[in-house]
Amino acid sequence: MIRASFSSLLTSMYDDISLTSVLPQITRINPTLLSCGTYYILQNEKTKIMGCGGWTHERPGTTERIIGEAHLRHFATHPDFIGRGVGRAIFNHCKIMAKKENIRRFICFATLNAEIFYKSLGFKTKKSMNIELGEGLSLPSLLMTADI
Ligand SMILES: CC(C)(COP(=O)(O)OP(=O)(O)OC[C@H]1O[C@@H](n2cnc3c(N)ncnc32)[C@H](O)[C@@H]1OP(=O)(O)O)[C@@H](O)C(=O)NCCC(=O)NCCS
Repeated sequence: MIRASFSSLLTSMYDDISLTSVLPQITRINPTLLSCGTYYILQNEKTKIMGCGGWTHERPGTTERIIGEAHLRHFATHPDFIGRGVGRAIFNHCKIMAKKENIRRFICFATLNAEIFYKSLGFKTKKSMNIELGEGLSLPSLLMTADI
């Protein structure tokens, strides 16, 4: 599902050559994230997965934690369900669950195309950044934060 979403929806802000090289990295299955207990899917009555996303205490790829802060992780909506509130519904659930664990601030390393989505959820763009993906690859992104 993430592959279907990223491969079609990132094309508005990234060129073909960059996408072809980074897609295998950014759509790779992440068992740690999938089993963390705070990564969610939203599915419809036909049990089709419409979207996914979640949060972790840890900064992606590390064990670093900052008290009161959490990171939003890997939000994606299937292209068939875009613009129907799927991402917002998953975010609202994240917010409820994170607040129960005394999280007061979300941090997000956002793809360029998702800035408008995160802004509508209350995030502010702090700076441009490159997410290092290894093997000499990186993804131009945005550091965004929201008080919750
Ligand atoms: C970003 C993404 C998850 C948004 O999912 P979605 O389910 O379509 O979002 P929603 O329908 O819940 O939209 C929530 C709000 O964001 C706004 N929004 C989302 N995408 C938008 C776009 N491309 N242009 C303008 N507004 C947009 C909606 O208008 C809506 O605002 P409203 O509730 O005030 O009307 C989806 O576009 C996606 O999967 N993109 C590719 C993967 C990606 O880049 N993920 C982010 C990784 S950091």
